[in-house]
Amino acid sequence: MVSRVIPVDPFDLVVFGATGDLARRKILPGLFRRYIAGQIPESSRITGAARAEMTDGAFRTFVASALEEFLDAAKRPDEAVKGFLAHLHYVRLDATGEAGWDRLAARIRRDVVQAFYFSVAPALFGDLAERLHRHGIATASARIVVEKPFGHDLDSARALNVTLAAHFAESQIYRIDHYLGKETVQNLMAVRFANILFEPLWNARHIDHVQITVAETVGVGGRGAYYDTSGAMRDMVQNHMMQLLCLIAMEPPYEFEPGAVRDEKLKVIHALEPVGPEDIVRGQYRGSEGRLSYVEDAENPGSLTESYIALKVEVANWRWKGTPFYLRTGKRLRARASEIAIVFKEVPHSIFGDEEGWRENVLAIRLQPNEGMTLSVMIKEPGPGGMRLTEVPLDMSFAEALGAEGADIPDAYERLIMDVIRGNQTLFMRGDEVEAAWAWADPIIAGWEAREDRPKGYDSGSSGPEDALMLLHRDGRRWREIRE
Ligand code: BG6
Repeated sequence: MVSRVIPVDPFDLVVFGATGDLARRKILPGLFRRYIAGQIPESSRITGAARAEMTDGAFRTFVASALEEFLDAAKRPDEAVKGFLAHLHYVRLDATGEAGWDRLAARIRRDVVQAFYFSVAPALFGDLAERLHRHGIATASARIVVEKPFGHDLDSARALNVTLAAHFAESQIYRIDHYLGKETVQNLMAVRFANILFEPLWNARHIDHVQITVAETVGVGGRGAYYDTSGAMRDMVQNHMMQLLCLIAMEPPYEFEPGAVRDEKLKVIHALEPVGPEDIVRGQYRGSEGRLSYVEDAENPGSLTESYIALKVEVANWRWKGTPFYLRTGKRLRARASEIAIVFKEVPHSIFGDEEGWRENVLAIRLQPNEGMTLSVMIKEPGPGGMRLTEVPLDMSFAEALGAEGADIPDAYERLIMDVIRGNQTLFMRGDEVEAAWAWADPIIAGWEAREDRPKGYDSGSSGPEDALMLLHRDGRRWREIRE
């Protein structure tokens, strides 16, 4: 299969916070991979901007070492690195002062696509937006890219939206949720809306429940200060998992365009029921075998922040009434494994009598690692001696099915940055979506804060707190195993 590279127009991209962790790990290596794919037009420029004093040359050396650190040697031929570095420039800049802005203004062209990536603390978004305007740098078609966390709650998210709206139209604002850039997440839409097979079954009549799992093996060490003010609900559920839920639950948009897709997602968020304490399990990992516990990682002995959360969520509309969505995510779990499982209902009547081996059909969509899909179906166990049933998976690993292209899936950031350059907002969150997601999450968080809820301990390397099992057991269901 030949990869199709869609050309983009020449651009000027400014990365504010260019010496930060996200730029080093994701943004700059992602741009390099797009360069190799032939998507960085000859006259395009990538300008790093940060507080540190650095020449263009020093910045290129810095980026070269990031590429060495984050890309396999085979994936960064010397010639390509050299060619990519030639696109890079650097401007020393003070986000809250005036230093550097005239220099930036002199460097940035007004007649090419302009994109400004705010890879900085949200407290600086307003300063950057205002200065881009005051110095006449950003044109009316310029795009700004903002990172999560987009607010800490509804009020702060609203305030951020107001701040950005003072200088940029909604059509210029790209709020990144990198989960939307993941190949398999987009595949979810392809599976639903490019096949006739699933959509007729995609409702509460045929689907018993949905499980969304995002399990990680990492702890919060190194970013404990941020994480301890956030917790799994704010860090993962309000954004990434909410987006996954929306893509599963939304009605078919009338076209694959930003407005249509985002309207449908918003309706799902509005339809979410409040979640009561009986439908939430929060956990915190304990230390083990020389590994620190959550409170040690977070350096906060009395912390009540959750590093794990499981929730039973109901979508109150005609399509989903009665089909719960069980969400769980956590750090330091037994495997890094993210999966969406659509668990179908039993057949209405079994002509084979009570079958011990009977299992419900499950469509499992693996987001990472080993991206792919499995549909489990019941078949007859081979051999004579009656009709015994057994479950077999119709298994599709994207790497196997799509060959080299499936194995070399672009990182979410690569795709999203190129979408910014193309001016396609479909995979970015609109301001009202983010606010609606906070409006749902805020009372849930306020509820456990008021109760002074203590997260349950769980062992590192486990599947999370025991209590999370009960969330499904009491409904006669069970979690799928967490495995790579
Ligand atoms: C980030 C969270 O948004 O997503 C992290 O802040 C989390 O806590 C990460 O580890 C997970 O992303 P991925 O792509 O590794 O699943």
